[in-house]
Amino acid sequence: MFREVMMEKVTVPVLKSMKGKDKITMLTSYDFPMAKIVDNAGIQTILVGDSLGPVMLGYPNTIPVTVDEMIYHTKAVTKAVKSAFVIIDMPFMSYQESIAEAKKNAGRMMKESGAEAVKLEGGLNMKDTIKAIVDIDIPVVGHIGLTPQSIHRMGGYKVQGKGIEAQRLIDDAKAVEEAGAFMIVLECIPRTLAQEITEMLSIPTIGIGAGPDCDGQVLVIHDLLGLLGDFRPKFVKTYLNLQAEIDGAVKTFIEEVKKGVFPDDARSFH
Ligand code: KIV
Repeated sequence: MFREVMMEKVTVPVLKSMKGKDKITMLTSYDFPMAKIVDNAGIQTILVGDSLGPVMLGYPNTIPVTVDEMIYHTKAVTKAVKSAFVIIDMPFMSYQESIAEAKKNAGRMMKESGAEAVKLEGGLNMKDTIKAIVDIDIPVVGHIGLTPQSIHRMGGYKVQGKGIEAQRLIDDAKAVEEAGAFMIVLECIPRTLAQEITEMLSIPTIGIGAGPDCDGQVLVIHDLLGLLGDFRPKFVKTYLNLQAEIDGAVKTFIEEVKKGVFPDDARSFH
């Protein structure tokens, strides 16, 4: 049974204070009902990721996602959430063109969506942009390693930071922290490198495909629930096979309607 529970509001200072003491939990959500369930279950941070492009809108990747689409989905999420900290992803080309444009879009996304922080991809190349957004008091979450908005440069969704590439990621992580980000996502990098970066930084690291030594973990909710078909990256753990459950329920409904079993007398008005 779904019962609402009251939990303490998660904030930037709370998340920063958890580093090295208590693991941070994060899941994506893109709509009101899912955000309500996830928040009520006690998740500490909700990311409205630009993964909503492929997950919710059927796009081939995150590149086509717009600022308007991010705001539309995040508004629904923030209406549902009581205690989790909500982060909105800045989509491709909403922060890369100029610092002025990045500030304008970050500001608009915060004002119109109700999110409490923005996340953007990049390391050293985004240092000045992150600093400029932090300077206008918008909390920023960094994102390095496999950065899906760079899919065409990377030639696919591949593990980053192997061998001599590791130093570049260490420099990226340092730059993100120095720019003033309060948290950073490490995506698809070797676990030993994620551990080194986690120990080096004073801000929490959130891993996805980055091993167990990060300060927290994030998954796409549809992956966790088994709602995305047969494609399973190595790092994903599927806790439920919801696709099969839904398939079964829909088939039973079809069968019962065809046979005249649904609705029965108890579900009819007299
Ligand atoms: O867009 C997203 O969902 C993300 C996470 C996978 C970290 O960036």
